[in-house]
Amino acid sequence: SAEGQAVLDFLYENDEISNTGDFASAAGIDHELVVNVIKSFSARRIVDAQDIKTEKYVLTDEGKPYAVDGSPECRFFLAVPPEGISPDALQMDPALYKIGRTQAFRNKWVGVENSLLRRKVNCNLNPMVHYLILNDQSMNGLSTIFCLCVLKFGLYDLYLIKILRLSTFCRTWKGFSVRKGPEYTRDHKKGPTDITRDHILSGEWKNLKFNQFNCNAQGKYVEGGHLHPLLKVREQFRKIFLEMGFEEMPTNNYVESSFWNFDALFQPQQHPARDSHDTFFLKVPSTTKQLPEDYVERVKNVHESGGYGSKGYNYEWKRDEAEKNLLRTHTTAVSSRMLYLLAQKPSFPKRYFSIDRVFRNEAVDRTHLAEFHQIEGVICDHGLSLADLIKVLKDFFARLGMSKLRFKPAYNPYTSPSMEIFSYHEGFKKWVEVGNSGMFRPEMLRPMGLPEDITVIAWGLSLERPTMILYGYDNIRDLFGHKVNLKLIKENQICRLGIK
Ligand code: PHE
Repeated sequence: SAEGQAVLDFLYENDEISNTGDFASAAGIDHELVVNVIKSFSARRIVDAQDIKTEKYVLTDEGKPYAVDGSPECRFFLAVPPEGISPDALQMDPALYKIGRTQAFRNKWVGVENSLLRRKVNCNLNPMVHYLILNDQSMNGLSTIFCLCVLKFGLYDLYLIKILRLSTFCRTWKGFSVRKGPEYTRDHKKGPTDITRDHILSGEWKNLKFNQFNCNAQGKYVEGGHLHPLLKVREQFRKIFLEMGFEEMPTNNYVESSFWNFDALFQPQQHPARDSHDTFFLKVPSTTKQLPEDYVERVKNVHESGGYGSKGYNYEWKRDEAEKNLLRTHTTAVSSRMLYLLAQKPSFPKRYFSIDRVFRNEAVDRTHLAEFHQIEGVICDHGLSLADLIKVLKDFFARLGMSKLRFKPAYNPYTSPSMEIFSYHEGFKKWVEVGNSGMFRPEMLRPMGLPEDITVIAWGLSLERPTMILYGYDNIRDLFGHKVNLKLIKENQICRLGIK
């Protein structure tokens, strides 16, 4: 730039620019432009610049017209005649009127008496002195105060005015004294910041003088890594389980065979849940052939003719049906695999949990989706009873802030007894269903090979329900699925389970 070159040229002939203000006015350049150039040169070490500390003030943009025509409060004061005037009759530009009135009232120059605007101070001075006389660009600090003093009605007022208005009307003047820096050259071209493909192809990069990166520049605010509410709540559930000594089960198989999802859980093959109206079956690959054969045999037997004190279902169990692939309908499919594995390498007690996605072929409405998340807890130990289940449920739900629980007998093909869990919701003032639970049946555990005195208690709940309650959603589609507002993910709050 011309200003930049003027600075470099001057420093070529002279040791220093002792004051950029003087330099700018001698060269007929706007001082602001010189200051910008010096800042940029100084960052690139082309010049060394020292701040000049001064008490000088210069007008701000807002202050400039006031310096010519007077401050709004002075003009407002002058517009009010000594005998007073009705506010409607006062003629003044509305914007000026607003600021002027506020300031003049604040200064107690003008007040309201019998609904007339009236002067509250006498002004015997020439009205001209009421104008803000900040028209001298190089006025120093002392004369600024002085000028303002002249216009006012006593030193005390004046002082206040200075403090109130100085920052809007004028600001301190900033300048530099400047010397050559280590990178000084007379004809300085701004170098490139980044190397380009062309620089490399042409070989030009060898001679280029690259701009230094300014590592002190303020970085861009990085926006990212926002967690969805479901993930936040999942993390809290995970913590609760871990605190209670549970291990997480591997849930990384959305596709499961009917065998592990249903048959291993003693769910009969004619059960309505196994209909394609309720379950998504896979077309490709439609079946799983590899199943643990001797276990399959025991499962077949228990379905067909019972055992372990059970009569079984008395139907012909079909391997084809068990081989059908599906999207798992509950995380209990994961638990059945884990319990089978545990039976191969017995070690008790064991506490397992899982939190992951499940799928059901269901009509979608404000409380149901075709895919959602289940939370499941499983405990295996010698001689566990229903009382143990109730105790652990009370402990678990208390950690979620639900301390009033009720249990209702229920039915699951794989648990007996089974209980639905209800919690009293203080906000809704009613009992809401929060989960399902039970003791796994011997028809499920014994064919796996788990010892006879081992009982397994388990419970399950959805992740969506507590998340909706916590975050105040009444439509599940606002939380999950293609209709979710993406802003939700950026703007959702931190809500903690168990804290109201
Ligand atoms: N699998 C059950 C469901 O999908 C929940 C449950 C888990 C019930 C464990 C009892 C024991 O609702």
